[in-house]
Amino acid sequence: MANLGKPGVVSTTPDAPATIDPNRPSAARIYDAFLGGTHNFAADRAVAARAVELLPEIPLIVRANRAFLRRAVRYATDHGICQFLDLGSGIPAEGNVHEVARSTTPDARVVYVDIDPTAVLYGRHVLGDDPHAAVVHGDLQQPGVLLDEPEVRDLLDLSRPIAVLMIAVLHFVPDSPALDSAMVAYREAVVPGSHLAISHVTAEARPELVDSVTDLYNRTGTPLVPRAHRQVTRFFDGWRLAAPGLVPVPEWRPAAGDLRLPEAIASVSLAGVGVK
Ligand SMILES: C[S@@+](CC[C@H](N)C(=O)[O-])C[C@H]1O[C@@H](n2cnc3c(N)ncnc32)[C@H](O)[C@@H]1O
Repeated sequence: MANLGKPGVVSTTPDAPATIDPNRPSAARIYDAFLGGTHNFAADRAVAARAVELLPEIPLIVRANRAFLRRAVRYATDHGICQFLDLGSGIPAEGNVHEVARSTTPDARVVYVDIDPTAVLYGRHVLGDDPHAAVVHGDLQQPGVLLDEPEVRDLLDLSRPIAVLMIAVLHFVPDSPALDSAMVAYREAVVPGSHLAISHVTAEARPELVDSVTDLYNRTGTPLVPRAHRQVTRFFDGWRLAAPGLVPVPEWRPAAGDLRLPEAIASVSLAGVGVK
């Protein structure tokens, strides 16, 4: 396991796709800290700790998001989908997409994509020589580059339905023509029957809970872009939103045993699955 307590170990690893700067907080490592992971540095833990002071339920919100990820993957496998493109996949944590998918679909194939070198490095470590899963270092706003990566071409058959996952990532991507055209490109790249799963932070219902955390992220170099319900809905243009639509994360097809959150806390992130 990569030891992020010793920055030199990581930055000299030949597989590292880019330099890891332990002094600059990263969204991936802050999220890992919320989950109680060990792939984070003091700078990440400081932001995570301050965020939890501002909104003590953040670790629960993050766990509810991971539960949505599991449900979205199972929803896809229930519909016969056995290929996944996980954009903004993060640092591996309990219940990674390939693990959840293979619990019912042993031949599931997964390509993970992340812009953060720590996520890519540890992701590759976790996968080892898994022939049916890979981690690609890249920006989801560059679908042309990503879909042409050898790992994507080898593992994903775009003539059959796939699930594109954008779980807790788009709120780190500001509005731009590049983002708009990327959303169109992913939709056009996949065949009917494919899924698009999104979860996303929103400040619309309870700005008093979200605004201070947004300010914190923005001040620490990891811009956070909460969006209103109608803005997140736009990401599903051209997809049919499966029931129950775009709803607070814990309310999207809750499963037995999943965490329940107070309504106000649940309202700070939205989740939905679109079907092409
Ligand atoms: C909060 S984590 C979510 C991880 C995982 N999807 C989950 O829900 O548990 C967000 C991830 O998105 C990644 N990310 C942010 N912007 C990205 C981009 N433009 N392209 C690819 N990944 C991105 C970050 O590096 C981080 O690992």
